[in-house]
Amino acid sequence: MYILGDHVLAVGSNKEKCARIEQSFHDEFPNSIFRIFACDLSSQAAIQHLTTEITTYLSNKNLNKIDCLINHAGSVMDHLQMTVDGIEYQFALNHLATIQLTENLLSYTEDGLVLFTGSTSHYKAKIHWLNLEFKKGFYRIFGSYRQSKLANAMMAKYYNHLWEGTDRRAYVIDPGLVKTNVGTKNMKGLPKLVWNIVKRKGDDPTVPVATYLYVIDNRPEGFYFRNKKAINYNKVADDLQACEKLYQISKTKIKF
Ligand SMILES: NC(=O)c1ccc[n+]([C@@H]2O[C@H](COP(=O)([O-])OP(=O)(O)OC[C@H]3O[C@@H](n4cnc5c(N)ncnc54)[C@H](OP(=O)(O)O)[C@@H]3O)[C@@H](O)[C@H]2O)c1
Repeated sequence: MYILGDHVLAVGSNKEKCARIEQSFHDEFPNSIFRIFACDLSSQAAIQHLTTEITTYLSNKNLNKIDCLINHAGSVMDHLQMTVDGIEYQFALNHLATIQLTENLLSYTEDGLVLFTGSTSHYKAKIHWLNLEFKKGFYRIFGSYRQSKLANAMMAKYYNHLWEGTDRRAYVIDPGLVKTNVGTKNMKGLPKLVWNIVKRKGDDPTVPVATYLYVIDNRPEGFYFRNKKAINYNKVADDLQACEKLYQISKTKIKF
């Protein structure tokens, strides 16, 4: 449960926007301890820098643990775009960044939770082993997005396997359809129009927030949660050999 006095650290992509959000949060909740770091999570060097900022913050406050790390940042790209590391953007941001940050902060989450934000789209996904970054042939916007969300579930499953016997635990939270601009920020034309129509049917962001809080407060049995209930997920995530293969390939793409 969140207790006033807990330190809440967040990450956003834009420095000025982060400063504005931090200020407005402090204005509204003057007794809260909220810090937002600016970091482009699609850049591996930036994630290393963020890690230093977070660990320095914790050390300055004499804190040595993180109760819950939420790997939430995600994006949909309407064309093949490379990160500064030369990696396809959705693969890098939605998937690789979660591995890098989780592992950088591992010594702080010994008995904590690591949550991954999944997506209903992962049910129809597969891992494109021979074209993981969709660099070959026609760029499939949603093929790449869906794959990254399946990868989130596979990594959460694999981490639970690696962490067996410890108090650290990973979950996937599926927000369902939520009224946000995830499908318009980096999109143009028809896909943007379609998302603008589809999202009208979406929930308010407070709906998935309730599921995050439920899982954080209760550490319930189960693995993949939507609307505060453990539900079925794509069983590819139960294939530990496939999960390990994806993990190993992904690690080779992270240079730190
Ligand atoms: N909306 C839905 O219906 C839905 C459904 C299933 C899953 N999801 C997942 O929910 C998560 C959040 O999406 P959302 O719908 O809330 O969309 P959103 O409003 O666009 O949020 C995306 C979040 O990711 C951050 N982000 C994006 N690119 C970043 C980068 N390069 N570096 C650092 N942070 C970055 C954004 O920070 P800034 O705002 O500072 O850029 C923002 O906090 C994603 O993982 C998405 O795949 C959403």
